[in-house]
Amino acid sequence: GRKCKNSTMDLEFFMKCEVHSSDLDVFVNSLKRKRASVRSLIHPDAFIMLAQDSLTTALPWFPRQIKDLDRCNMLITKFDPDMDHDHPGYNDPEYRKRRTVISELAFRYKQGDPLPVVEYTAEEISTWRQVYQQLRSIYPSLACKQFLDGLQQLEKECGYGEDRIPQLQEVSAFLKERTGFQLRPVAGLLSARDFLASLAFRVFQCTQYIRHSSAPMHSPEPDCCHELLGHIPMLADKEFAQFSQEIGLASLGASDEDIEKLSTLYWFTVEFGLCKQNGAVKAYGAGLLSSYGELVYALSNEPEYKPFAPEETAVQPYQDQTYQPVYFVSESFEDAKMKLRKYSANIKRPFTVRYDPFTCSVEVLDQPSKIQNALSQMREDLKTLHSALEKLSSS
Ligand SMILES: [Fe+2]
Repeated sequence: GRKCKNSTMDLEFFMKCEVHSSDLDVFVNSLKRKRASVRSLIHPDAFIMLAQDSLTTALPWFPRQIKDLDRCNMLITKFDPDMDHDHPGYNDPEYRKRRTVISELAFRYKQGDPLPVVEYTAEEISTWRQVYQQLRSIYPSLACKQFLDGLQQLEKECGYGEDRIPQLQEVSAFLKERTGFQLRPVAGLLSARDFLASLAFRVFQCTQYIRHSSAPMHSPEPDCCHELLGHIPMLADKEFAQFSQEIGLASLGASDEDIEKLSTLYWFTVEFGLCKQNGAVKAYGAGLLSSYGELVYALSNEPEYKPFAPEETAVQPYQDQTYQPVYFVSESFEDAKMKLRKYSANIKRPFTVRYDPFTCSVEVLDQPSKIQNALSQMREDLKTLHSALEKLSSS
């Protein structure tokens, strides 16, 4: 139907779709992100949706406020224990049931809710213990300094240890105080676009289930060992947190090709990156730091090493079923950050975004007044720095 009789821009479309009720949320969200306005009504026996759209869509949809992350829930189900015959939990109905229960917690979560608490079973804690003990013993010689510092703080102040699996709630509170990062539960592997978008808000999407007990040394999908041991210690580092947010901001509204490149870069750095420290090669990637098998392999003489160069790394094919055939080594941790920062700053978009930490929102700087506001805030910051410098030099 046409809403305004003189306009071809405002058309109303009525669509009839059949979608399984469990996929409804994802379906509506994917429609919403394509089209500016989708109104939906749920009837007892039919789901009615009204979509309104102007044919001249100015900006692609991306989250503007932190609560919009409720719509960034596109899951990739390729390593799902219910679907993938090679998953170590595929033939274990108990494990699959447990996964469903924990997934539900993530599906129901809305931004601002308290983070769900999972009462882990003795078997789950025993898997965690094995992973923790094994990895902890090789971290000192193989992990980078920033990681070791973060882990030490978590052990001292956040209850990290082999006897219990830390809860997202306490870890999120810990990170919030250090770097402003917070956690959000997720049911599995997210699409690159949604995962990167959450980083723009300093939100890290965390799975809460644990890998199958038959394969503690490697998991093809993210699990709580991967998040809590691989990612969290790095996110406690101020500079790394800043850098993660920058990748997130660069991804908002980027083209599909740029998202693909950014996520490949993310893969070879944040997940599988190596760097030189004091003349030795160390790991800083979370995929390595959460997998005993691959961490040892990556730092042996076997794999091929290439120097980290974003333009080349961004198009390197990668392996998500087994170990990587090639790893990228940067001259230092700082070098990786600097190069990746430069690369993401050069991604072409017809608009510029800025994060407002006071409202936890992303602002598109598309009017002179918005730029003026940002500038006056910056002027106040500069005054503070200037005054601090003056006091330093007069003392
Ligand atoms: Fe990860």
